[in-house]
Amino acid sequence: MAAGGALLRALGFAALLLPALPRGSPGSAERRCFCQVTGHLDDCTCDVETIDAFNNYKLFPRLNQLLESDYFRYYKVNLKKPCPFWNDNSHCGIRDCAVKPCPSDEVPDGIRSAGYKYSEEANSRAEECEEANRLGAVDESLSKETQQAVLQWTWHDDSSDSFCEADDIHSPDAEYVDLLLNPERYTGYKGPDAWKIWNSIYEENCFKPQNVKRPLTSGRGDDGGQMFYKWLKGVCVEKRAFYRLISGLHASINIHLSARYLLQDTWSEKKWGPNVTEFQQRFDEVVTRGEGPRRLKNLYFLYLIELRALSKVLPFFERPGFQLYTGNQSHDAEIKNLLLEVLHLAKSFPLHFDENSFFAGNKKEAAKLKEEVRLHFKNISKIMDCVGCFKCRLWGKLQTQGLGTALKILFSESLIEKIPESGPSYGFQLTRQEIVALFNAFGRISTSVRELENFRAILRTMR
Ligand SMILES: *[C@@H]1O[C@H](CO)[C@@H](O)[C@H](O)[C@H]1NC(C)=O
Ligand SMILES: *[C@@H]1O[C@H](CO)[C@@H](O)[C@H](O)[C@H]1NC(C)=O
Ligand SMILES: *[C@@H]1O[C@H](CO)[C@@H](O)[C@H](O)[C@H]1NC(C)=O
Repeated sequence: MAAGGALLRALGFAALLLPALPRGSPGSAERRCFCQVTGHLDDCTCDVETIDAFNNYKLFPRLNQLLESDYFRYYKVNLKKPCPFWNDNSHCGIRDCAVKPCPSDEVPDGIRSAGYKYSEEANSRAEECEEANRLGAVDESLSKETQQAVLQWTWHDDSSDSFCEADDIHSPDAEYVDLLLNPERYTGYKGPDAWKIWNSIYEENCFKPQNVKRPLTSGRGDDGGQMFYKWLKGVCVEKRAFYRLISGLHASINIHLSARYLLQDTWSEKKWGPNVTEFQQRFDEVVTRGEGPRRLKNLYFLYLIELRALSKVLPFFERPGFQLYTGNQSHDAEIKNLLLEVLHLAKSFPLHFDENSFFAGNKKEAAKLKEEVRLHFKNISKIMDCVGCFKCRLWGKLQTQGLGTALKILFSESLIEKIPESGPSYGFQLTRQEIVALFNAFGRISTSVRELENFRAILRTMR
């Protein structure tokens, strides 16, 4: 999903001129990407430097360790759902787009069987009952309380408070993928197909009226984004936030593609690493006519929102009833401790985003707005089925589900506060899929923030 490339192509020769850009001050390569990305972020009290220090040296290393565990590395996804909005006949022909599903015997029993237990539907089907019985062997070691906890997860899987169109993980087409074996990186998926995805997200799903042109759209009506930013400034904070979250997600994905670019591709070796030119094309202030630094600020905004969600959801994970069920109890306990450590770290962040300004208006109005946001976001999660490249589709689905879960958490604050310390939590639930998506999606954003430091350092030497 790399619309940036297409945008630049639309810009015509701006990209071709890249090597001849003025060098040295006042616009050194580093400054041109980053000088505006500093200090306070709009709509919140936080600043970029605080986030960098907190993320790169405290949170990122722990989070990465967590995401390498069995519980977090397996994600079940249906990559074969048809695109509901247009005819998508671009089977992914690009080799690097391929996703390797896991042979199911590699997925820990506990995770697989829990998957079965979630489903009432599956339990009603004879053949799958047999399967569940076979896998059930693992569960006999579970305590009564644990079994009950697993069971009640089921009841909430179809809950209407979800911000995403979740995959039917019981569909025969849904497969476990090992996220560590299928990293998000440059795939060559860009150009018109990727552009179409992002375009329909921005144009049809971000509350933007059609007559307001986005910046950098080619041809008529390009006023350097003046009208667009005037519109954005005028909308309520919630709709503005929505746009910024999507833009932040877009920026994050493009940072990954630039940071893990296919640099060398020979029969003997494939090498992935940072491609500064690619990065500049997407984020340099001059090349993107001011858009790049805005995109990067939106990335930080997204970071704050997801971080806030993690800090709010701590009580849900702190309960003794929350267990990982991968089938190895001592390992599960270890990982749960690490999980709590990450959440406590998130909570310790000093300059949290204050989401209380969200949906704070008149109650009726607020409820309507929240519902609108939810539906728009749900629609975006469906668009992910239209992404032509399987690997991009996998990460697109995971990241929208993760962000959707973060939003669900932020809007369930009062329910989370009411969760009893022991016994089942009926008011608020997260499925394993949502949990895996939440942490991995945040892992991506956290990695992006970390990668920026790397690009900063490279650009500093370029002058
Ligand atoms: C959902 O997205 C599609 C594709 O972009 C769009 O055509 C449709 O109008 C959107 N629907 C809603 C309710 O936002
Ligand atoms: C880096 O990316 C640019 C496109 O942005 C491409 O033209 C160039 O070949 C890439 N460099 C390497 C070493 O792959
Ligand atoms: C269970 O996890 C512990 C701690 O991580 C590990 O030492 C042990 O080998 C694991 N046992 C099995 C059967 O995998």
